[in-house]
Amino acid sequence: MFRGRDRIEIKTVGEIDAMRRAGLVVARTLQRVADITVAGAKTADLDSCAADSIRDEGAEPSFLGYHGYPAHICVSVNDEVVHGIPGDRIIREGDLVSIDCGAIVEGWHGDAAISVLVGEVEPEVADLSRVTEQALWAGLAAARPGGRLSDIGHAVESCIRSQGEHFGIVEEYVGHGIGSRMHMDPAVPNYGRPGRGPRLLPGMALAIEPMVTLGPAEVHVLDDDWTVVATHGVTASHWEHTVAITEDGPWVLTALDGARP
Ligand code: MF3
Ligand code: CO
Repeated sequence: MFRGRDRIEIKTVGEIDAMRRAGLVVARTLQRVADITVAGAKTADLDSCAADSIRDEGAEPSFLGYHGYPAHICVSVNDEVVHGIPGDRIIREGDLVSIDCGAIVEGWHGDAAISVLVGEVEPEVADLSRVTEQALWAGLAAARPGGRLSDIGHAVESCIRSQGEHFGIVEEYVGHGIGSRMHMDPAVPNYGRPGRGPRLLPGMALAIEPMVTLGPAEVHVLDDDWTVVATHGVTASHWEHTVAITEDGPWVLTALDGARP
């Protein structure tokens, strides 16, 4: 069912339960992949791990074949912001590795991303990941009934801005509605003024995904037509969760404990 002129999909309780099962597949898969994200690993090894995990869980990968995407996860290292394609690259001590994963259960989607710090990293890189994750949680907390869509981006932006002037917020890529498809209306930017846009209603589900840079936020796409890199070569972090808006508040479907209110 779709609600209002904004055409945002409203899920039944049973459909949200299927999304929770997909979310848990994503959460457990990311945990397994994070465990093998160590110096010396090849990014393609991370992809095999995710492929096995998603299939063993009885779910389907949502990224493989999406607009021709050739892998099960995105692996974006250092100045790669999002949509890095796993391959022969070797992960090294000090790297920040963003891993993005999606899975489908009974036709319902989950989508999440984490940043993994490999061994000893520069303190500012650790800060970047911490701030990005914290901004994600600020956005998730704003995903509650009665609020408006732009409250989420406002919460994300305010959190990042309060942590220092040197962080950049990538504006070209945004979060999204999610449910019977991975990418649905509405777009969920990581910035903006509060109190605008559609009202948030129980049964909506959103993927919130701040992408933050350690310096200027300009990005461009590499010749592989996928990998988004920071134009100035600065390190970037990406964190993402799928959240359902429930009567009681946000239910973080891709968090292992659900962070249920
Ligand atoms: N999960 C990404 C997002 O957060 C999309 C990945 S694009 C794909 O929106 F092609 F890799 F699937
Ligand atoms: Co997403």
